[in-house]
Order: sequence, then C-alpha cells, then structure tokens
Amino acid sequence: MSQPMGESISIEERFEAFVAEENRVEPKHWMPDAYRKTLVRQISQHAHSEVVGMLPEANWISRAPSLRSKLILLAKVQDEAGHGLYLYSAAETLGTPREKMIDDLLTGKAKYSSIFNYPTLTWADMGAVGWLVDGAAIANQVMLCRTSYGPYSRAMVRICKEESFHQRQGFEIMMNLSKGTKGQKEMAQDALNRWWWPSVMMFGPSDDNSPNSAQSMRWRIKRKSNDELRQEYIDKTVKQAEYLGLTIPDKDLKWNEDTGHYDFGEIDWTEFFDVIAGNGPCNAERIAARQKAHNDGAWVRDAASAYAKKQSRRKKLEEETQDSAA
Ligand code: 3HC
Repeated sequence: MSQPMGESISIEERFEAFVAEENRVEPKHWMPDAYRKTLVRQISQHAHSEVVGMLPEANWISRAPSLRSKLILLAKVQDEAGHGLYLYSAAETLGTPREKMIDDLLTGKAKYSSIFNYPTLTWADMGAVGWLVDGAAIANQVMLCRTSYGPYSRAMVRICKEESFHQRQGFEIMMNLSKGTKGQKEMAQDALNRWWWPSVMMFGPSDDNSPNSAQSMRWRIKRKSNDELRQEYIDKTVKQAEYLGLTIPDKDLKWNEDTGHYDFGEIDWTEFFDVIAGNGPCNAERIAARQKAHNDGAWVRDAASAYAKKQSRRKKLEEETQDSAA
C-alpha cells in the first residue's frame, strides 16, 4: 500500500483497490478496523478449532489398534496443535494478544468449528474424521492459501500440506475397514452415517444466510462462498465413498446432468445453529477439557515468562557492563 495514488482517493478506497489487485495485506499496512476485526474473528476461531479438534482424536490414541496407527494418529494430533500455534501467531500480528483470544474461547465468547462437538465412538470414527472432516477442512483451506492477509495465507500453505496427509490417513483407515470383515465394513458405514451431515455443515450457513460472506469476499478474505465449497466437497467425496463401497446417508443425493453437480438433501440447519449456540452433544465437555488443560498449564506459562524476564535482565546487565568497559 505504499504506491502513490491520486489525492482524491480516500484511504479506504486505496485499500479496496489494493486487495482487488490481488496484493497481500501485511501487518504494517493500514487496514480498515472492520477488516482487522473480521480477520481476528476468523483466524482466532480457526485456531480454536485446531486446538479443540485435538480432543476427539486424542480420545483414541491409547486405543489405536496397532503401533503404526498409534504413531500416525499421535503425529496428526501434534500437527493440529502446531496449526493452532501458527494461527494464533498470525492473529497476534493484528494486535490482539493470545491471552485475550484464549480467554474468549474458555468463556464461550468465541466460536470454534461445530464439527468438534460430536463424539468419536469407534475406531472407524478416526477414519471418518480424517477422510470427511479433514477433507472438508482442506476444501476450505486451499482457498485460504490465497486469502488477502499475508500472515494468514502463508500459515495456510503449510497447514494444507499437513491436512492432506491427515485426509489420507483417514481414507486409509476407511479403506482397511471397508475391505475387511462384515463387522468392520458395518463400522465404517456407521461412522459415515454419523459424520456425513456434520461435515457438510462445517462450511457454514447457506450463502443467503451467511452475514459475513459478502464483505469477506469483497476483501478477498474468503475466495469462495460457503455453498460453492460445500458443493465442491460433495462432488468430490461421493466418488470416494463409491470407491470404498459405502453409501452416503442421503436419499436425495443424485447426479444432475444439467448442472454437472450432485443434488443433495435438505441440511438440518436447526441442528447446526443449536451446535454453534453451545448445545451440541459435546460442547460442554470440550470447553471443560480446554479449561482444565489451561489451568493445568499455568505453571508452564509462569515458568516460561519468569525465564524470559531473567534472560532479558541478564542481557541488559551484559550490555551495561560492555558500555561501561568501552
Ligand atoms: N462452526 C461454528 N461456527 C460457524 C461455522 C461452523 N462450522 N460456520 C459458520 N459459523 C459461524 C461463523 O463463525 C459466524 O459466526 P460469528 O459471526 O459469530 O463469527 C456465523 O456462523 C455466520 O457464518 P458466516 O458464513 O457468515 O461466517 P464466515 O464468513 O466467517 O464463514 C467459515 C464461516 C467458512 C467457517 C469461515 O470463518 C472460515 O473459512 N474459517 C476458517 C476455516 C475454519 O475455521 N475452519 C474450521 C475447521 S478447522 C479444522 O477443521 C481443523 C482441522 O484440523 C480438521
């Protein structure tokens, strides 16, 4: 935003033109307050989703059926923690301290993805979560690699690479189960039945009921609408389910020659809005787990900040000693 422009153009118009020309906005640039606020909201919600998203999977680390699957799941859960850290760091560049974002999560002021308020009941759920939930997350996040805010888009490049490994991990579990015994195939189908609709809801409300979309798309924060991404996801995933020999639990799912897409059934928006209002099957459990982890980790944060203070005092002393010796 440093190139000279006509004086008659306001700073807001300059900003709009800057993003419309596909430039990246960096922390040092001027930006409208509403752009900053939207980004802090979206990036912090995204960070919270990564961190809360560790819980339903961590639930299965100690019960993974082999050492190999345990190692892979452990690595995947660690990746999610890393994603949360990149995203909190990206949000911090907008001037909001991490403590405030975490406080908003723990006190229920901030949202996180609806999907993580559903329970993981069987090992097949580790397959369905990786295949469907990470698959949906990738569909949304590939678009975010081109989001207009530089630190967010750069964080997304690495996150997407790791998410595609996660998606393959889930698909592999589903493959093994669906090619296994009758009981294993039933377990895979049951997981698909329970995770399908929540994963379709992950993309958010339909476009005509999405208050933030229009402005976020104008600012190139979002590059595709909720419904566009949902349709892409469904088109891609139906073929994968066919390959697995599993049935998507939607009797209205049908290929439409005219549109070149799958038509699909009615989404239960009452369920979606209930879950994001805090009334899903696991909302209370998830927040309680995060609160406990935060309280249990207080001594680590205290120790780290005491160490940082000690280091900075030591550095200051060394500088003073060098100055007086010179
Ligand atoms: N869960 C919870 N809240 C949701 C939601 C969902 N699936 N979808 C939408 N919402 C909320 C919005 O946050 C917004 O609430 P707010 O105004 O109070 O913040 C409200 O519903 C209206 O929705 P909009 O469509 O107007 O909101 P957005 O324009 O922000 O679009 C979004 C929603 C598509 C989720 C967008 O915020 C986004 O792309 N976020 C970044 C990606 C992200 O957060 N993904 C979460 C999953 S990450 C993950 O799954 C981890 C991986 O490891 C598996």
